[in-house]
Amino acid sequence: MKIIFGFLATILIVSLAPFSYASDPSPLQDFCVAVSDSASAVFVNGKFCKNPNMVVADDFFLSGLNKPGNTSNAVGSRVTPVNVNQLPGLNTLGISAVRIDYAPYGLNPPHTHPRATEILVVLEGTLYVGFVTSNPANPAMKNKLFTKYLNPGDVFVFPEGLIHFQFNVGKTNAVAFAGLSSQNPGVITIANAVFGSDPPINPTVLTKAFQVEKNVIDYLQAQFWSNIG
Ligand SMILES: *[C@@H]1O[C@H](CO)[C@@H](O)[C@H](O)[C@H]1NC(C)=O
Repeated sequence: MKIIFGFLATILIVSLAPFSYASDPSPLQDFCVAVSDSASAVFVNGKFCKNPNMVVADDFFLSGLNKPGNTSNAVGSRVTPVNVNQLPGLNTLGISAVRIDYAPYGLNPPHTHPRATEILVVLEGTLYVGFVTSNPANPAMKNKLFTKYLNPGDVFVFPEGLIHFQFNVGKTNAVAFAGLSSQNPGVITIANAVFGSDPPINPTVLTKAFQVEKNVIDYLQAQFWSNIG
C-alpha cells in the first residue's frame, strides 16, 4: 500500500513540475532591484537585490524607447532591449520588453529566446513573421512553419524557445514592440551561433550537418556575423 501511495505521489509531483518551472520563478517579495555592488546586496534567483530601503522610483524606470534604433547593418533591423540589464527593477519579475525597428525590407533574422515566449505588436509597417515548431515525435512529420502578414495594431505570439523571424515586406520603415516572459530572455541568432561562433565550429561538423560541400561552409564562416540586439 505504502509503495502505491509513494508511486501516486511521485506521479503527482512529476505531473505538476512542468507548471512550477514553466517560466521565470515567481518572486517571493514585492521586488528585488538588481544591484552590481555585491557588498550591499542579497542574492536571490536572478541578480543581487538592492537593499529595499535604498530603492527609488528610477530603479523601475527607463526612457528613450520612442527613439528609433539604428538599422544600418547587414540585415536592416535593430532590437532595443529593455531587460534586467537595462532596467534593474525587472529583477525576479519574469518579464521584459523590446523595441524593434526595420528598414524597408529589413529582417530580424531567425533566432530563438531560450527562456521566453514573445508577444509582438506592430505599430508601423507590414511584417511577414513566422515560427517553426520543434522536431516532431513522429519522424515522418516535419518541423511545421506558421506564418502571418501583420499590419499596424496586429499582435502575434512566438512560443518559448522556437525559431522565429520578422521581415519588413513594405517600402517604408516598420516598428514593433514586444513583451517577453523573462527578465533575461536570451537570444540565439541561428546563423551567428552556427557560422559565427568563436572559435569556429569544425567545418567537418557543419558540412555533415548541412549536407553541403566544405567550400559552402568556408564561405559562410568567413562572413561577418554581427548581432543586432
Ligand atoms: C548607424 O550605424 C552606422 C553603422 O554602424 C554608423 O555608421 C552610423 O553613424 C549610425 N548612425 C547613427 C545615427 O548613429
